[in-house]
Amino acid sequence: MKTLSKTLIARAALATAALAAGAVHAGEVEVLHWWTSGGEAKAASALKSTLQGQGHTWKDFAVAGGGGDNAMTVLKSRVVSGNAPAAAQIKGPALQEWAAEGVLANIDGVAKAEKWDSVLPPVVANVMKYKGNYIAVPVNVHRVNWLWTSNAAFKKAGAKVPTNWDEFFVAAEKLKKAGIIPVAHGGQNWQDFTTFESVALGVGGADFYKKALVQLDQASLNGATMTKVLDTFKKVKSYTDKNAPGRDWNLATAMVIKGEAGMQLMGDWAKGEFMAAGKKPGADFGCSAAPGTAKSFTFNVDSFAMFKLKNEANIKAQNDLAAAIMSPAFQETFNLNKGSIPVRLGMDLSKFDDCAKLSAKDFVDTAKSGSLVPSVAHGMAIPSAAAGAIQDAVSQFWNDDKMSTKDAQAKIASAAKTK
Ligand code: GAL
Repeated sequence: MKTLSKTLIARAALATAALAAGAVHAGEVEVLHWWTSGGEAKAASALKSTLQGQGHTWKDFAVAGGGGDNAMTVLKSRVVSGNAPAAAQIKGPALQEWAAEGVLANIDGVAKAEKWDSVLPPVVANVMKYKGNYIAVPVNVHRVNWLWTSNAAFKKAGAKVPTNWDEFFVAAEKLKKAGIIPVAHGGQNWQDFTTFESVALGVGGADFYKKALVQLDQASLNGATMTKVLDTFKKVKSYTDKNAPGRDWNLATAMVIKGEAGMQLMGDWAKGEFMAAGKKPGADFGCSAAPGTAKSFTFNVDSFAMFKLKNEANIKAQNDLAAAIMSPAFQETFNLNKGSIPVRLGMDLSKFDDCAKLSAKDFVDTAKSGSLVPSVAHGMAIPSAAAGAIQDAVSQFWNDDKMSTKDAQAKIASAAKTK
């Protein structure tokens, strides 16, 4: 009898210990992101199920709004009130700004165990580190300088997919004559700038882009090439429709998907929309480099910054999330849905389509040739204060048909001095 009860007590103790261990293992991860469109939501749900597969709880903190402006505003207020999520979609130089506030966690433990230094391109790894320690984990590489075209619209108009800006306007005229909206656009700051930076790259080339938009060199910002860029940019507007102001990017993509519009200048998250709508690259739609940019690559790397947490179980869940994001299986599933390519080196791309394969090839080639450039519209290039001021000036010019190119150029050059 005595022995029996002792065994029972021992068993009960073991069960309690196992439960406690389970409790430590299963944590909750609250993740802030802005992936709410069709393709984006599919990609985000791949992240959610990966984490849930490990027994953790996913608390979705989605803030709608392409480009993430709304999400960043909400994040700031949450962090200021001492209630940061476990992970938030933060990118580029903004990672350094957040880390300098002392709110981000050092995730070197998981980075070392998973050998991130040897599976990430150094240019990406450096952005994910603050003072030598990993504070964020990258998800993908998006290419921004793409032109998406509707095969049906181009066929109807008898137009040829353009490879430079002169051809772009020839195609736009033909589409217009055929009763098709030539350019699908959404008038929001970040979309205006997504178009602007592709025009700058196509008209001025990678060296001009770097000098003017990355180094913010005043001579380049005030020079003749910039004047040509602005004139070309404004000419694009004349081929957009009157409902463009305020339109969400995915609704603009839907116009191309339906053949109501012929072209869209947008990063390859647009491909996620075509795929989610069951469309096939080559057969239904075309992906080509934005006019004049075939030999360059504007990159946009999505990443999640990890915030400092106190609860042990949640820290474990946060580390598991970071490890899962970099795993080959997740990199494949996520990027197939998102339209981007894996950020992890040495991945098998056999399941990816030709747009992704072209992107992967051009990413490597342009890194070698020096024409791999960071996207300003997507927070990769310059501190957020200057980026915001320049984007405002560019959108003012786009929206105000009375503003001269000369005035716009002076405004942009002065906005570039914002600290
Ligand atoms: C970008 C982001 C992409 C995509 C896009 C539209 O800034 O990097 O992942 O989601 O916004 O929302």
